[in-house]
Amino acid sequence: MNFFNWLSLFIVFHVFAATPRIFSLTDSSTQLPVNFLDAAKKPEVFDYMVRIRRKIHENPELGYEEFETSKLIRAELDQLGIPYKHPVAITGIIGFIGTGRSPFVAIRADMDALPMQEMVEWEHKSKVPGKMHGCGHDAHVAMLLGAAKILKHHEKEIQGTVVLVFQPAEEGGGGAKRIVEAGTLENVSAIFGLHVSPNFPLGEVGSRSGPMLAGNGFFEAIIRGKGGHAAIPQQSIDPILATSNVIISLQNLVSREADPLDSQVVTVGKFQGGSAFNIIPDSVTIGGTFRAFSKESFQQLRHRIEQVVIAQAAVQRCNATVNFLQEQNPFFPVTINDGDLHEHFRSVAGSLLGVNKVNNMQPLMGAEDFSFYQEVIPGYFFMVGMQNASHEKLEQVHSPYFKVNEDVLPYGAALHASLAVSYLLKHPQDIAPAEGKYHDEL
Ligand SMILES: *[C@@H]1O[C@H](CO)[C@@H](O)[C@H](O)[C@H]1NC(C)=O
Ligand SMILES: *[C@@H]1O[C@H](CO)[C@@H](O)[C@H](O)[C@H]1NC(C)=O
Ligand SMILES: *[C@@H]1O[C@H](CO)[C@@H](O)[C@H](O)[C@H]1NC(C)=O
Ligand SMILES: [Zn+2]
Ligand SMILES: [Zn+2]
Repeated sequence: MNFFNWLSLFIVFHVFAATPRIFSLTDSSTQLPVNFLDAAKKPEVFDYMVRIRRKIHENPELGYEEFETSKLIRAELDQLGIPYKHPVAITGIIGFIGTGRSPFVAIRADMDALPMQEMVEWEHKSKVPGKMHGCGHDAHVAMLLGAAKILKHHEKEIQGTVVLVFQPAEEGGGGAKRIVEAGTLENVSAIFGLHVSPNFPLGEVGSRSGPMLAGNGFFEAIIRGKGGHAAIPQQSIDPILATSNVIISLQNLVSREADPLDSQVVTVGKFQGGSAFNIIPDSVTIGGTFRAFSKESFQQLRHRIEQVVIAQAAVQRCNATVNFLQEQNPFFPVTINDGDLHEHFRSVAGSLLGVNKVNNMQPLMGAEDFSFYQEVIPGYFFMVGMQNASHEKLEQVHSPYFKVNEDVLPYGAALHASLAVSYLLKHPQDIAPAEGKYHDEL
């Protein structure tokens, strides 16, 4: 590096070092209006998001099948003049706004719907029988596109690159894991994700530092006996009775083997066996979920579920196999929010919404595949409230009566945009892990 490079490096560092001190979210001297809430509420952005959200809501697609949704998103990105990579993880899209250079900060939306019938009667009800956007991911996509529209408008002022992540298959499929494996996020310094929530008022958000959502795994077990006439049980081996005992024994794992102060769940949500009043079936299939807040507790549950199912089935002379279905449903790690990003979130959300609208929440046993990002880069996940006290009470996510209050859209879009841009302003010194590569650019 010659003298002039050193000199320019010196100047750049001084400018960078000075910037964070004079920068604040309300500082009118900064060029970029980091508070994007007003922009997101303008009809050109609000109506845009509502239109996209309704279109996606009418055409829900399950994990890794989001082909039309992906096409719609790409058409909007093309329209906005935002470059992107596609396909990533089958239907995923990674978009870029800003300088195209370091630092990089990512904002993420999931795209998949649920295999359930919508029971809400409204103009934009799901047109696909048995499929529904019952978790609000249609709104998440609309919010990220809304943020993209706002950010594109301010692209020249963005000091780095905002990476838009549209990921497939959050509902059990682990789309985030495949996005990470595709390597597209390797130079990203931080990632933000959100979820709409009926449990917080509109205009408020909730989150916490550290563990927020549980690690999650699924299991399926087949318990095999010997079928026969229900009136001659001595000639059969009854898998219904054996499975009933298996389920009861599984309940003892949390109540008797786990530390009461270490939250865990084992739920059997599926029990399939038998076809008639007077037949003992050959086999029964059960399935369920297990959740915990540490890797150790999670692995212990996994281990004991397998042992208990097999051993308890054997008590009634049945054979059992346990499958953890990791191919289709990878175990989700615990969602752990980064402490520094928590402070960043509190300051940005506080100035956008008011400090008393930023709630600290208790951990939940729900799970999110956002945790796969957090395993490789600092990440922050938060809830965006949508309950308006003067409207009807909203149903929980995954209910067939679930509704999105579309007034939430500007809040999500503004938070995405403001969190990303202010992160870049606060972290100008971040360079890619491959050190040295960017010195030439200074
Ligand atoms: C990350 O940065 C390195 C060094 O500049 C570069 O070689 C690599 O292609 C980048 N990766 C991605 C996914 O952009
Ligand atoms: C269980 O497996 C053993 C060993 O393969 C076999 O002999 C037995 O018949 C099986 N029992 C049932 C109920 O399937
Ligand atoms: C809640 O709904 C009422 C009536 O539709 C509306 O006037 C009000 O602005 C809404 N509240 C918020 C925070 O948007
Ligand atoms: Zn969900
Ligand atoms: Zn969800």
